[in-house]
Amino acid sequence: MLIFKKRLWKDRFATIQTYYKSPKFAFLDLTYWVIYCFSNPYRVSRKFLQKRGEKEIYAYGETPYVTYHKMACEVGLKETDVWMEMGSGRGKGCFWVAHFMKCRVIGVEWIPQFVYLSKVIRTLFRMKKVSFRGEEIQTTSLEGVTVIYLYGLWPPLQLSPKVKLITISEPIEGFRVVHSFWVRFPWGRTRAYVQQSF
Ligand SMILES: C[S@@+](CC[C@H](N)C(=O)[O-])C[C@H]1O[C@@H](n2cnc3c(N)ncnc32)[C@H](O)[C@@H]1O
Repeated sequence: MLIFKKRLWKDRFATIQTYYKSPKFAFLDLTYWVIYCFSNPYRVSRKFLQKRGEKEIYAYGETPYVTYHKMACEVGLKETDVWMEMGSGRGKGCFWVAHFMKCRVIGVEWIPQFVYLSKVIRTLFRMKKVSFRGEEIQTTSLEGVTVIYLYGLWPPLQLSPKVKLITISEPIEGFRVVHSFWVRFPWGRTRAYVQQSF
């Protein structure tokens, strides 16, 4: 637990040092910090999953900005790409990608509170390139999407061979692994896999 907290603080420090050079992003990130002082995202997720009667209720976790940065570079993300985050959580990563990589971003998330607050922040900061859908990842439309990021379980979906899929810790069966690389999370180091369908 102590190591986990230490890593969270390290990420916080790295965020301030690296990404707060952009005042707009600094304000956006601080707005998140203020809003979520009053509502712990881990608790929000746990209550939502409990209500749904899910067995695994401690499934929430967040990707550090440095890891989004690494994934965007490794996948060669361009302004013309459309990045979809399946299970976007609080939406912080979606804003990072749209702000620094300047591409269109779609966050898909089923927890209404996360989606609502992400949309509020989008409006406040006029982040027109980002949109959020309060939907299930199994049924969301993949039209126009070129890169999918998933930190969670893969729903049985058909992908066009042109779409790049990034998964964490394990590749998805039935997809070709294009390449893999190390990434950091508060719980430790793991591999990310860039995959495409055959
Ligand atoms: C491990 S968290 C990752 C959050 C975010 N992607 C990040 O990396 O910081 C997984 C997220 O996916 C959402 N999620 C899980 N299953 C989902 C589903 N079937 N439809 C929509 N969202 C889902 C959860 O509510 C949670 O916010």
